[in-house]
Amino acid sequence: MKVLLTGATGYIGSAVTDHLTAAGHQVVALTRGAEPQPGRGWHAQVVGDTADPASLAGAVTPDIEAVVHLAPPSGDADVDTAVIEALAAPLRGTGRPFVYTSGVWVLGATGEAQDIGEEAPVNPIDIVGYRPQIEQRVLAEVAEGVRAVVVRPGIVYGRGGGIPAILVDRARQQEAPEYYGEAGVRWPTVHVDDLAELFVAAVERAGAGTVWHGVGESAVPVRDLARAAGRAAGLLAAPRAVPLERAAEVFGPLFAGALALDQSVSGGAARTVLGWRPERPGPVAELVSGSYRPVEVFGAPDGPETDAEVAAIRRLVAEVEHAQQNELVDRFLGVFRREDPVWTTGHGKRLSGFEEIETFTRKVLPGAMAESTAVYDVERVLFLRPDVAVVNVRQQPVRPDGSRIADRPEGRPFYVLVKEDGTWRVGAAQNTVVAD
Ligand SMILES: NC(=O)c1ccc[n+]([C@@H]2O[C@H](COP(=O)([O-])OP(=O)(O)OC[C@H]3O[C@@H](n4cnc5c(N)ncnc54)[C@H](OP(=O)(O)O)[C@@H]3O)[C@@H](O)[C@H]2O)c1
Repeated sequence: MKVLLTGATGYIGSAVTDHLTAAGHQVVALTRGAEPQPGRGWHAQVVGDTADPASLAGAVTPDIEAVVHLAPPSGDADVDTAVIEALAAPLRGTGRPFVYTSGVWVLGATGEAQDIGEEAPVNPIDIVGYRPQIEQRVLAEVAEGVRAVVVRPGIVYGRGGGIPAILVDRARQQEAPEYYGEAGVRWPTVHVDDLAELFVAAVERAGAGTVWHGVGESAVPVRDLARAAGRAAGLLAAPRAVPLERAAEVFGPLFAGALALDQSVSGGAARTVLGWRPERPGPVAELVSGSYRPVEVFGAPDGPETDAEVAAIRRLVAEVEHAQQNELVDRFLGVFRREDPVWTTGHGKRLSGFEEIETFTRKVLPGAMAESTAVYDVERVLFLRPDVAVVNVRQQPVRPDGSRIADRPEGRPFYVLVKEDGTWRVGAAQNTVVAD
């Protein structure tokens, strides 16, 4: 389909462009400026400004087979209503899709209710005050023969952007991770690439008049996100609560209120009905060892294939950390290659072969993490061959609550990884304690 996309230069719009294009559609980007933007993957570009609905008059030409409206609200309900009119009117009587982007904030605080669905009544917080009206205005287009659809994303993460990037920046500036409002606040979240796939599904097959929650994880504790954002900023410290009044001074009262909003929202309907599969890593993993923490990579070309290998390697190192922190002997052993692995510990003990590693781990790991454990961050990956990688890791000692143990030295583990049968495993490992 030829799809007119507003907000195509933005965070979500960039991912939606990629996934629409990958699914064989052509994106016609509506941009405010006329200057060409090569490299974005657009089929064509038209100029228009949603602050000036009259400027959209010619955007939906007869060859446009779908409209995805991602540009943000203007702040004026009348202007936004006129924008819907301008973009939807040319589709009337065609049955073509018009997909409007709202957000889960229209649901307000969800309180005791868990995993609420699309049938729940709206209760918008101030920052999205009139947005439910715009949703209704969009859905009213069904009566005019438009396949009108509303998507409500949760808090979007991934590709190093979105609101989680604000948490990382703030942690860096304040030298401490922060969350806002009450300790029990939870956010529904969605990976930007998963969300983009939901937009593709909505364009291709969502029924007229339907509303979909674009939510991968229904209620992620914001304290966990803050801790992970701290780690992305290189900080190992317990997150601190910033009272709402203080957050309002930093972000303004409307956005602060949204950050402090507690919600539990389900994206189950889109999975069941549209076959949507949001399977990318969750926001905590993404912050700790994903796109918010660039890694130095050598020996492989830039591109999605290398990114995927690096992501898989980081998952392996995250598995080392998880297995060690939780004293999971079998999972720890699972990271090693079966054939002749070698591991030299930080104390210089060389374990040669799987059996020696297994015997040592079964003896040493259980009970070892009661008072102190460690976090592992991949810093450098060198691909010696496409299936052999040397990985430099920074290991920092932490207490079970994740805070840094100041008087313990760091380690610098070094792994030689081998990819066999599609899976990266440790063939050789050596740890060196950093002497100050
Ligand atoms: N990010 C989230 O977590 C999240 C969650 C739920 C819902 N949403 C909703 O999703 C939509 C997209 O969000 P986003 O995070 O991708 O935002 P974003 O990164 O700020 O991108 C906004 C996009 O809209 C365009 N735009 C802004 N004002 C415009 C105007 N007056 N006329 C035409 N285009 C205009 C921008 O173009 P320029 O290049 O010209 O600036 C940009 O392409 C918004 O409606 C937002 O409320 C976002």
